[in-house]
Amino acid sequence: MQKHIYVNGQWEATASYTTLNAPYSKKEIAEIPQATEEDVLRAIDAAYDTKKTVANMTAFERSQVLEQLITLLLQHKEKAAKIISLEAGKPIKYALLEVERTIETYKFAAEEAKRLVGEMIPMDAAENGKNRFGYTLEQSIGVVAAITPFNFPQNLIAHKVGPAIAAGNTIILKPASQTPLSALFLAELMDQTSLPKGAFNVITGSGKLVGDVLIQSDKVNMITFTGSPAVGIDIRNRAGLKKVALELGSNAGLIIDKKVNLDDIVAKCVVGAFSNQGQVCISLQRVYVMDSLYDEFLAKFIAQTETLVLGDPLEMTTDISSLIHANEEIRALDWINEALANGANLATGGKLHNHMLMPTILTNVADHLKVSCQEVFAPIVIVNRITSIQEGIEAINNSKYGLQAGIFTNDIQTAFMASKALEVGGVMINDIPTYRVDQMPYGGVKESGTGKEGVKYAIQEMTEKKLIVWNQS
Ligand code: SIN
Repeated sequence: MQKHIYVNGQWEATASYTTLNAPYSKKEIAEIPQATEEDVLRAIDAAYDTKKTVANMTAFERSQVLEQLITLLLQHKEKAAKIISLEAGKPIKYALLEVERTIETYKFAAEEAKRLVGEMIPMDAAENGKNRFGYTLEQSIGVVAAITPFNFPQNLIAHKVGPAIAAGNTIILKPASQTPLSALFLAELMDQTSLPKGAFNVITGSGKLVGDVLIQSDKVNMITFTGSPAVGIDIRNRAGLKKVALELGSNAGLIIDKKVNLDDIVAKCVVGAFSNQGQVCISLQRVYVMDSLYDEFLAKFIAQTETLVLGDPLEMTTDISSLIHANEEIRALDWINEALANGANLATGGKLHNHMLMPTILTNVADHLKVSCQEVFAPIVIVNRITSIQEGIEAINNSKYGLQAGIFTNDIQTAFMASKALEVGGVMINDIPTYRVDQMPYGGVKESGTGKEGVKYAIQEMTEKKLIVWNQS
């Protein structure tokens, strides 16, 4: 079925199309429009021309748009999940969870729209501030360009679109080339809300072409990007004075201290390492287990991993399906083979089953190997033995990334020490690094990015603080 781009409240055809195939069945699922430079410029103009209207909407009106969207998403929950599952290969049970999270993200945005508050400045704290009354206003930034990834095709859009609307901005959305259908479905729903036409636009096609036009346009005030460090760093280097928020990758690590009860931990690790085939920025990629529990943990982890069901993402029983593209399976196998050729041991997995990569556990993996030091974005996890917590912290910090980390421990001093020492954006005590709820601040250090998401924090990135000072003398 041929799709259209959504510009200025209209569905438009483009000059050319590419075929979108489902990652699992490899069957054609849609013909996707390839926007030209002129198409992108028209979307930018639409967002630019609407920005004053949206900035002047009341907090109540902005919140109402988001509430209308929530109602529509609730009505079409199954359809939204099916689209995610089909185009991303995400097992349907996880796709349904993603839609639930998406609804919650928009709910947080609808609430935050009503809490856009500035602060009073104690002007007279300065000698020269006598008889001055100062306060700040949080004003919309204007036109936000949102470039989103394939791994959460609805919720990671919600993390940009929800806060942008809450803050009174207009939007040009460029979804991942592999998962445009969720974004176009969102446009169908958004079209039914009271958001002024032109305030929300969806452009599909070449990331390079669309990205370049967005970066070069003086009418775009902010770029918010989730994706690979290479692309994110390139955007930042070329964006000039535009605001840029970047959510990039990681190789998230977990420390398991001695004397913890492993039963619950093992189940969490299986979900953290393998849900969505490991294609999650905070997927559990490196586990460092204290010597005394190492053998027990590994045996239980392998046993539970081997119960996972591989298959069609649309089946409710499926835990693991295809990676986003067949090339990714080949790349992941190369990385596994590099590790095995360099001293690592294969505990389970390590090969394809009906074209799908089996969930893979590697042990004794050196830090410099790709499965350890790069973002693996596949169902591969390494488990290494440590003899001190310090060793685990150093291993986690020995990374170009720093998004989230976790530690399971019964020792409060260890928990405090690790939470200070780990070089990441978020530390999960007694949980996996994959833990996320959508209102918490989320964002990394080092090559994991700059700026925070999590609705309230994304709104802060998408607003300008304006100072007002009254002279009362
Ligand atoms: C991500 O991959 O960055 C998003 C993870 C999540 O929202 O759970």
